Amino acid sequence: VRLKDALQSAISRLREKDVPSPGMNAELLLKFALNCDRAYLFAHPERDLTAGERERYETVLTERGRGVPAQYITGHQEFWGMDLIVSPAVLIPRPETEHVIEAVLELAGVETNKAGARGRPPHTVLRIADVGTGSGAIAIALAKELPTAEIHAIDISPAALEVARANAARHQEESRIRFCEGDLLVGFEKESFDFVVSNPPYVGESEEDQVQLEVRKFEPRNAVFAGPKGTEVIERLIPQAWRVLKPGGWLVMEISGTNADDVKQFLAGWDDVEIRPDLQAIPRVALARRASN
Ligand SMILES: C[S@@+](CC[C@H](N)C(=O)[O-])C[C@H]1O[C@@H](n2cnc3c(N)ncnc32)[C@H](O)[C@@H]1O
Repeated sequence: VRLKDALQSAISRLREKDVPSPGMNAELLLKFALNCDRAYLFAHPERDLTAGERERYETVLTERGRGVPAQYITGHQEFWGMDLIVSPAVLIPRPETEHVIEAVLELAGVETNKAGARGRPPHTVLRIADVGTGSGAIAIALAKELPTAEIHAIDISPAALEVARANAARHQEESRIRFCEGDLLVGFEKESFDFVVSNPPYVGESEEDQVQLEVRKFEPRNAVFAGPKGTEVIERLIPQAWRVLKPGGWLVMEISGTNADDVKQFLAGWDDVEIRPDLQAIPRVALARRASN
């Protein structure tokens, strides 16, 4: 089979299975099966696949056809310009979550680089907790952008923490991040953080039908679903964050459009509460500041 024919038949096959973006998926998986880049595919359309390559392509197409996300097949996902390893033990990092990073950098005065952006002198050591770190996406991006920050990354899943540690090591940030297995901020009551940052599970079991099959079947349940309503984890996290934040410290959380109103209510008593939309105008990031006393 010639490379270009293998690609064409893969596209029709994925299309039949209702895989979204069949062209992109077929190409991505062919690059993976041949361990080559895009330029190579286009430079050698007439080249025959070896038996080994055909078999490998066949295996990954079957996987993708039954709904396994491409990222779990290739083991990679890009986030904040970094290549991250992902396994089925972790949520695949989403582009929307980059808004969380942007908000933290803005509040930390990195983008404006002005003394006291929102009241904070630059060059102080920031203490940050990333709650529910998963692949480590948020913690590692912040470690990279805030070279003097002290970062704690927490997850309830030991398997997720293993992936997060591996990612930190690959990006030479392992010495910057302290990884802890734990339930939200339980056990951190004596700490004082400048930022509590989190992309918590926020989908309700009652909304399960609206969740893509790929997510429902293949991403870790406790990374996606919080409980029957969807706000269960956020509702516990908010008062815990208050306790561990310094006066004037910020909580920055990813949320969903469905729970934005509830989140605002849970944040009564906080200062500077703001809900920011993502690129599709869906409420996506909640910011709140612990009163400065
Ligand atoms: C939506 S994923 C976010 C992963 C990653 N931070 C990201 O943005 O891609 C939520 C993460 O929270 C973790 N988690 C769920 N319940 C938790 C709890 N009670 N305490 C700590 N982590 C929890 C899950 O294991 C999962 O890794």
